[in-house]
Amino acid sequence: MTPTDAKRPLQLNDLGQLRHFLSLDGLPRELLTEILDTADSFLEVGNRSVKKVPLLRGKTVCNVFFENSTRTRTTFELAAKRLSADVITLNVSTSSTSKGETLTDTLRNLEAMAADMFVVRHAESGAAHFIAEHVCPDVAVINGGDGRHAHPTQGMLDMLTIRRHKGSFENLSVAIVGDILHSRVARSNMLALKTLGCPDIRVIGPKTLLPIGLEQYGVRLFNDMSEGLRDVDVVIMLRLQRERMQGGMLPSESEFYRLYGLSTQRLAQARPDAIVMHPGPINRGVEIESAVADGTQSVILNQVTYGIAIRMAVLSMAMSGQTAQRQLDSEEQK
Ligand code: CP
Repeated sequence: MTPTDAKRPLQLNDLGQLRHFLSLDGLPRELLTEILDTADSFLEVGNRSVKKVPLLRGKTVCNVFFENSTRTRTTFELAAKRLSADVITLNVSTSSTSKGETLTDTLRNLEAMAADMFVVRHAESGAAHFIAEHVCPDVAVINGGDGRHAHPTQGMLDMLTIRRHKGSFENLSVAIVGDILHSRVARSNMLALKTLGCPDIRVIGPKTLLPIGLEQYGVRLFNDMSEGLRDVDVVIMLRLQRERMQGGMLPSESEFYRLYGLSTQRLAQARPDAIVMHPGPINRGVEIESAVADGTQSVILNQVTYGIAIRMAVLSMAMSGQTAQRQLDSEEQK
C-alpha cells in the first residue's frame, strides 16, 4: 500500500468537482466536507413518509457487483431510488460474465442500455479505476469496494458517523483494529481521517496483519490492544478477511480474539464516551464480543443508515459533475 495513487485527475472534472468516485486518495478536504454536508442534508429524506427527491429522475444507475455484498449493494440501490433514478442490479453470478463474457463487453452492453452511472464492486484492486478509464466519457463510475485497495463510500459513511457523534475531527483519537493488511476499509479510513485533520490515528493488530509502510499514512502502530485503545474516542473494528488471506497468518481465531477481540473489559481502556464502529459483516466472538456489538457505545447500525445518505450524496454529486463537464466540453467545441 502506498498513499500516492494519483487518481485525482480521473475523478474530478475541470472545475474540481466529483465526476467518478474511485478512491479518497488525493481528494481535498473541501470536497470531503462537501460530501459530508450534502449527506447530512439527505438524512432527513429517510425520515419522510415519501422518501424521495427528484435529483436523478430520468437517470439510470447500474449496480454491478462481482463480489458478495449486503450493505453496500442494498444501500446504493436505496440511495439511487430515493434520488428517483431507475436502478438495475446485475447479478453477476447469473449474468453472461459467468459464460465467458469479458468485463469490458458486459459494460459495453450496459452502456448500450443508456446507463448513466455504474456502481462497481470487484475482488481485484484497481477494477473500478480500469472501468472508469474505459467507459463512455458521460458515464460516472462509483467504487463499491475493489480488492484490498479502496472502499471510499464506506470511508465517508464512517466519517459521517464520527462527525455526527463527536462533532469534529480535531482533538480526536481514533483506533482502527484488526486485519489491516487485507482491508480496503482501513485504507480509506486512514486517508479520510488524515485529510479531515484527525491528529491521532492509531492502528492496532498483530505484526502479520499490519502492512509494511503504514507509517506513511501518519498513523501510530500498536501490537498491544490495551495500550492502543487507551483513552481513544473512536474504535473501528475490522473483520478477519479470510477470503483474502493466503497461508497461516494467525495461530487460530480464538487466539486472535484473546489478543485483539473487543470485549467489554478491553473497551474500558477507551474513553467512557467512546463509540464502537464496524463496517460489517460482524463476526461475534472473533473480533467483537456480542455485549459490545449490541451495547450502548455501539453505533454499528447507525453506520448503515448514514451509508444511504452518503451514497445519495456521492451519486448526486458525481452526476452533476458529469453534467457540468459535458457543458464545458460542448462550449469548447463551439
Ligand atoms: N461494509 C460492507 O462493505 O459490507 P458489505 O460487504 O455487506 O457490502
